[in-house]
Amino acid sequence: MAGFPRLLSPISLRGHELRNRVVFTAHTASFSQDGIPGARARAYYEARAAGGAGLIVVEPLPVLQSGGVTPQNYRFEDEGFGPALRATVEAVHAHGTALVSQLYHLGPNADPVATMRDLWSVSGGPPPGGGPGLMHELDDEDIDELVDGHVRAARTARSAGVDGVECMFAYDTLVDGFMSEARNRRSDGYGGTLENRLRLAREILDALRAALGDEPLLGVTVTASMPGYVDAVAHLAEHCDVDYFGIGNGDYDNLDLLMPTLDYEPGFGIPFARSVKQAVPAAVVLAEGRITRPEIGERALAEGSCDLVGMTRAQIADPDLVRKAEAGEEAEIRECVGLNLCVARRLRKFPIACVQNPDAGFELRAVPRAATARHVVVVGGGIAGLEAARVAAEAGHRVTLLERAPSLGGQVALTAGLPRQGAHRYLIDWRARRLERLGVHVELGVDADADAVLRLEPDFVVVATGSEPGQRYPGAISAVDVLRGAEASGPVVVLDEEGHRKGAGVAETLANAGREVTLVGDGVAPAGSLVHTLADAPTRRRLQAAGVRLVRGVRVVSVESDRVVVEREGTHEAIRAASVVHAGRHRPADSLLTVLRDRGLAATTAGDARAPGLVEDAIRSGHDVAAAL
Ligand SMILES: Cc1cc2nc3c(=O)[nH]c(=O)nc-3n(C[C@H](O)[C@H](O)[C@H](O)COP(=O)(O)O)c2cc1C
Repeated sequence: MAGFPRLLSPISLRGHELRNRVVFTAHTASFSQDGIPGARARAYYEARAAGGAGLIVVEPLPVLQSGGVTPQNYRFEDEGFGPALRATVEAVHAHGTALVSQLYHLGPNADPVATMRDLWSVSGGPPPGGGPGLMHELDDEDIDELVDGHVRAARTARSAGVDGVECMFAYDTLVDGFMSEARNRRSDGYGGTLENRLRLAREILDALRAALGDEPLLGVTVTASMPGYVDAVAHLAEHCDVDYFGIGNGDYDNLDLLMPTLDYEPGFGIPFARSVKQAVPAAVVLAEGRITRPEIGERALAEGSCDLVGMTRAQIADPDLVRKAEAGEEAEIRECVGLNLCVARRLRKFPIACVQNPDAGFELRAVPRAATARHVVVVGGGIAGLEAARVAAEAGHRVTLLERAPSLGGQVALTAGLPRQGAHRYLIDWRARRLERLGVHVELGVDADADAVLRLEPDFVVVATGSEPGQRYPGAISAVDVLRGAEASGPVVVLDEEGHRKGAGVAETLANAGREVTLVGDGVAPAGSLVHTLADAPTRRRLQAAGVRLVRGVRVVSVESDRVVVEREGTHEAIRAASVVHAGRHRPADSLLTVLRDRGLAATTAGDARAPGLVEDAIRSGHDVAAAL
């Protein structure tokens, strides 16, 4: 409590005591089994309750079939839903955490492939993204059905014991489509004035209060991206019996603001909540958006920006965040980096996962204590080696980690040096601290050959020796070498084979250092592979601001001493270059594996040494290799 008196202080909402201000806000985690919250979802929520969350908002219930987005959406009308939700409620309540169910209808942003229904929208029009056909404009009967759907979903959730429900009126979905002056073109009683545009929201909230009675919590979320959101909250606060207002950001056209990546400042969402709190001081306001550490939430409360603090990805990354804050162990928090693997998987309609926390969503499969402790030697202190060493040590093995460089982190440490990518350090630093706590013997500056490894008499060796740039163009400098300090004089052409952070980051770094830079996507769009994690938009904006020329829709034909030749739809084009930087695919640096095996040691590769990939692949690989010991 000492460090975070406000964040950890209780708050009473309509007689429901929240033990602190930390909220695990609604997110479509997609852990359902056949549309019901099964053992996996229960364990996921229970872990966050055990870790101290004050309030958990359970993944949304689409109130009508036309409102959903994934095949895993909950189906509240299915037999078995109520009892399964009750089991989750009981598991969460047992830890003293309150729990509400989110209700939504995604309207234009539902997915007809998942729902097999037409798209619903306030005023019809083409579907988002400009697909074929037109959306269905709600008529009075649909409105009745929508209100009724909210009531039926809420009744089911309430019968299962939830403390209340939350209505998602946010992100350019159905109800905020009505609220939005720009999107609502209706001429009936639901269009025109603010009062008319908010009529549907009021009808839903009034119907819910009437159906549920006075006791349960009723929350609403809105998005700060909707012009007039403060007035909308003021109106609903005045006319409806609402217990809290969640203030999100962004919408389906600007998902990067809804789930801001590490490219955005920590605490990004707080000013939007503050605008509401200042205008409607009596409203209980929930701030959301990249609140990654307790001190950020504490500050937001201290400055009067909000009453509740959403820390969602923060608690995906560390279920025990609150408990650690309470115990004064905030240095132990496994901090959300903002890499949005969770979002990438949600957008591809898979259950979420976490880069920082490979156990998120796998709470039922936690690595057990080893029956026999073995001596595990990990060669390589990049991120895969760090994770392998950590997991092996947590399981009770004796672990030695050898790293050639004078410091830990490998390529992730280089990535952390790219513009706005510093949060990558959390991946390294948290693991390094954990290794220290677990008593792992770490040796830096050791070029471990087979003899050196054999001398340690390991029972098992993890070869996590990383990868090297593939040398496809002899005259080019590798991106990794540029980041290690190799000189690249301008004009520079950066050849990007992957469309990920390496190419974009090195181009931006060079441009910031005053070079004239052209970033050429070789068969890929620059930053194109960042699209699912939502980092593409902020990355491209920064590249443009730095003056980097982006070239896409081409293939590289040749790299010559003073130019790069590319082909675009059969036509060749030369781009002048004093230096060429190659941000290409890496190849595994795995030669140690065969030598060790030839000499009779049990060994395997992990991370890039196995298959060069993304940081999440390396961490998962290190984790799984150690978990299998
Ligand atoms: C994978 C994922 C799915 C989400 N799904 C929903 C959702 O279904 N409903 C909703 O209101 N917000 C949803 N959100 C938004 C979160 O509630 C929250 O506003 C956002 O993650 C920013 O908060 P954070 O930085 O603390 O994670 C989702 C977020 C994530 C990461």
